[in-house]
Amino acid sequence: MAAKLIKGTEISKQIREEIAKEIEELKQKHGVTPGLATILLGEDPGSKVYVGQKEKACNKLGIYSERTDLPADTSEDDLLELVKKLNDNPKIHGILVQLPLPKHIDAERVIYAIDPDKDVDCFNPVNVGKLMLGTGRFLPCTPHGIMELLRRSDITTEGKHVVVVGRSNIVGKPIANMMMQRPSGGNATVTLCHTGTKDLAAFTKMADILIVAVGHPKTITADMVKEGVVVIDVGVNRIGKTPEGKAILAGDVDFDAVQEKAAAITPVPGGVGPMTITMLMRNTVEAAKASI
Ligand code: GUN
Repeated sequence: MAAKLIKGTEISKQIREEIAKEIEELKQKHGVTPGLATILLGEDPGSKVYVGQKEKACNKLGIYSERTDLPADTSEDDLLELVKKLNDNPKIHGILVQLPLPKHIDAERVIYAIDPDKDVDCFNPVNVGKLMLGTGRFLPCTPHGIMELLRRSDITTEGKHVVVVGRSNIVGKPIANMMMQRPSGGNATVTLCHTGTKDLAAFTKMADILIVAVGHPKTITADMVKEGVVVIDVGVNRIGKTPEGKAILAGDVDFDAVQEKAAAITPVPGGVGPMTITMLMRNTVEAAKASI
């Protein structure tokens, strides 16, 4: 039987409507317009698309957006100076430096330099630490998006075995952490698999909820999952181009085969992807509220 599709595009739309109402209220009651600054270094086409989408989402929701595009050879000092200016700018509540940064820049230094109260990515170690303690204001965007996708699809995590594949700082590590937390998190039993895992399939077959964020198409095949699993596919892999030159995208999961066994699954595109930007908007509004 084919799985239920977890439609990120629709859920994201619903959340954006809720956010738009909050923004209106912030403006009316407090005269505060949430503001997001984005910084992009260089010409990477993927990064340009992402930053463009963030800017567009701000404009649609009524969030003030300030975008700075800089050449790839911008010095670390100049970038740090810009971050400092934005830290001090009261019109800006969130600062996002698009990653990856060029190799000559120490990304960790730049992330450290962002005021933790404006760190809407939740990448600053202060916020990562608070996330681990379960006390933070911000949740990282993609993991938060995953939690909302499940919650709004009436899929409970309580007591389930959640298997995460991939240990990135952006997705794997934080989602594993959030899933095991209580009361704000998933209260699930969590297994984190990575490139050092021996016999990956032995673990993925045990998953009630399988979250995959590795960046390789078809890493998870049908023989690696059990009947009735819920699959969250975070991968966005460019596997070719249409005759018109548009990128053909695929996730990390062999969607066609796995959906035959799964109870529910996210598509790529249209699953986790739209949620990431929506949760960035959510964090920007949270930061603006905290500034009142
Ligand atoms: N590059 C890829 N994903 C992200 C993200 O969520 N935030 C930032 N700042 N850079 C990214």
